[in-house]
Amino acid sequence: MLLNKSCSFFSSPFPSVLLRENAGFSISCSFPLKNSNGLISGVTVARCPTKASGFKGIVSASKETNHRPISNVLFDPFEEVKRELLHIPSVPQDSLARHMYTDRCEVAINDQINVEYNVSYVYHAMYAYFDRDNVALKGIAKFFKDSSVEERQHAEMFMDYQNKRGGKVVLESMLMPMSEYDHPEKGDALYAMELALSLEKLNNEKLLNLHKMANEVNDVHLADFIETEFLTEQVESIRKLSEYVAQLRRVGKGHGVWHFDLMLNNQLVAA
Ligand SMILES: [Fe+2]
Ligand SMILES: [Fe+2]
Repeated sequence: MLLNKSCSFFSSPFPSVLLRENAGFSISCSFPLKNSNGLISGVTVARCPTKASGFKGIVSASKETNHRPISNVLFDPFEEVKRELLHIPSVPQDSLARHMYTDRCEVAINDQINVEYNVSYVYHAMYAYFDRDNVALKGIAKFFKDSSVEERQHAEMFMDYQNKRGGKVVLESMLMPMSEYDHPEKGDALYAMELALSLEKLNNEKLLNLHKMANEVNDVHLADFIETEFLTEQVESIRKLSEYVAQLRRVGKGHGVWHFDLMLNNQLVAA
């Protein structure tokens, strides 16, 4: 009744019967109306009564223009939330935060944690080799020590992410890395850098596979996390190691390596 009275100043493409059909339910919706001057105003229907005797909704018109699209879809949070309430875990071992996070993603994140840890472990072994008194390439040793820490940080970032999404971190075993890096033709520095370049490319491939899997299961948040936190950094690592390999190929195995090591040490100390 109130609706018809209020609407006498307006013309609307929406028949009032639309609102009458909803009598007996709680609804809240807005739609535009055109008044006698041709101006569009927003009209809000705030509430309907519970009795089936008639519609007594409260209608108010605002002067602001309403450009929102009209979908005729009513959102009833207390009705729709019932579905989510049913899925809140009651078992203490299950995550409460887990939402739209598939088992496939959980397993893949644990695999990537293992990849990052393994790379970190290899770099740590390289650090120990180049830090030996009879090798004494301090710059290369520091580079691999820093790289080892960085890869472990990557593993931790994936661990944090796993916990954030309600998955469970499962650490897998790691293979024992090599302890000797000398190579008869390439020498130790070039051989280790080529190995590091190959590892970074392999890691990049693993990250791209993880990103592809996230897209396949429509996990937008995981895909964004990998893009934002890892892919750019990974490409930059590959570029940097490629330059080191190219420089070491130029300088040979002897005195040139000592100069390369000095340059790298100065760069790392200045950074
Ligand atoms: Fe990494
Ligand atoms: Fe890396």
